[in-house]
Amino acid sequence: METLNVSLGERSYPIYIKQGAMFDASLFSQHIKGTKVVIVTNDTLAPIFATEVAELLSQYDVATVTIPDGEAYKTLASYEHIMSFLLSGNYGRDVTLIALGGGVIGDVTGFVAATYQRGVDFIQVPTTLLSQVDSSVGGKTAVNHPLGKNMIGAFYQPKAVIIDIDSLSSLPDREFSAGMAEVIKYGILGDIQLFEYLEVNLAEISAKVPSVLSYIIKQCCQNKADIVAQDEKESGVRALLNLGHTFGHAIEAEMGYGNWLHGEAVAVGMVQASELAKLRGWLSDADVNRIVALNDAFSLPSKGPAQMSYEQYIPHMKKDKKVQAQTIRFVLPKHLGEAILVTDVTESELKLILQ
Ligand SMILES: NC(=O)c1ccc[n+]([C@@H]2O[C@H](COP(=O)([O-])OP(=O)(O)OC[C@H]3O[C@@H](n4cnc5c(N)ncnc54)[C@H](O)[C@@H]3O)[C@@H](O)[C@H]2O)c1
Ligand SMILES: [Zn+2]
Repeated sequence: METLNVSLGERSYPIYIKQGAMFDASLFSQHIKGTKVVIVTNDTLAPIFATEVAELLSQYDVATVTIPDGEAYKTLASYEHIMSFLLSGNYGRDVTLIALGGGVIGDVTGFVAATYQRGVDFIQVPTTLLSQVDSSVGGKTAVNHPLGKNMIGAFYQPKAVIIDIDSLSSLPDREFSAGMAEVIKYGILGDIQLFEYLEVNLAEISAKVPSVLSYIIKQCCQNKADIVAQDEKESGVRALLNLGHTFGHAIEAEMGYGNWLHGEAVAVGMVQASELAKLRGWLSDADVNRIVALNDAFSLPSKGPAQMSYEQYIPHMKKDKKVQAQTIRFVLPKHLGEAILVTDVTESELKLILQ
């Protein structure tokens, strides 16, 4: 088992990574204070995982609450459904919530945990690659509003993150690939060794060889933990994790959430950011080609939607949470393995990239 630590003073917590972690009761029990546990999951995952996890935790008073599957249900309505379940069950502040699922479940459950009776404990059990390498670590919780994604939320850290590599075996290939986009992202923005490891282990990753998955998940979590420990609330270095996301969010929003998966849009966004960096002489053609080759290897797109024009990108990018004083902030690779925040990208540069 790999154990990492997110160092945030009294809010520090461990990340456990191993095969079968989800069925290791001791990993849970160390982090459950009271006698009551509520598993939050979705309709798809409840039959696959939740029944077994509930049995495993039978020493507690365990219940399961589900919401429908999908980004469309990362809403205040789902939040209220879970809240109503907790209130009608007379759960007190000693309840521990377990977020069992992908990023949608993690984000909604985290926000419920942050606000139920002003805050209760929760444990992340991420089951998608994206949530294992990204969303379950770092304490960003949220639901969507019709006027904007992730617009209602809180920074609220879990008590532990339990990553079971075996859970990825049932994940659809397209979702696995979307998670790989975030893995590639960590390589470009701060970990050239990870980037090179991906290049030489393409077949092993696609075959989901456990030791290889374990290594890449560990590296990503370590990168994220280091950044979060320096800048929990994203006033500085944490913004680097948004490499590819300014462009990517525009694609997701314009195409309608769910049509393009988040990771697919980020894959394109990373290439667009790299093209911008190339214009500035920071990356070479060969560097950009290496990124495109990794995208190709995981069937990820490197080009935006053909029908999407420059004019369609701009309004979305101006709404981005990274906008400060009307300037769009971009994360650009300075070279492979290091990224910086840039605020002086010109309209003509953007036009060159997006037209
Ligand atoms: N909090 C953060 O820091 C952060 C970071 C990145 C993304 N996010 C959020 O995460 C969400 C995306 O997360 P996601 O990509 O995990 O999507 P998701 O939670 O929608 O999961 C994708 C699909 O895979 C299914 N699934 C999950 N695990 C499975 C398994 N083991 N086997 C079979 N099917 C499985 C789900 O039911 C769902 O249909 C977005 O809402 C995004 O905003 C949050
Ligand atoms: Zn992302």
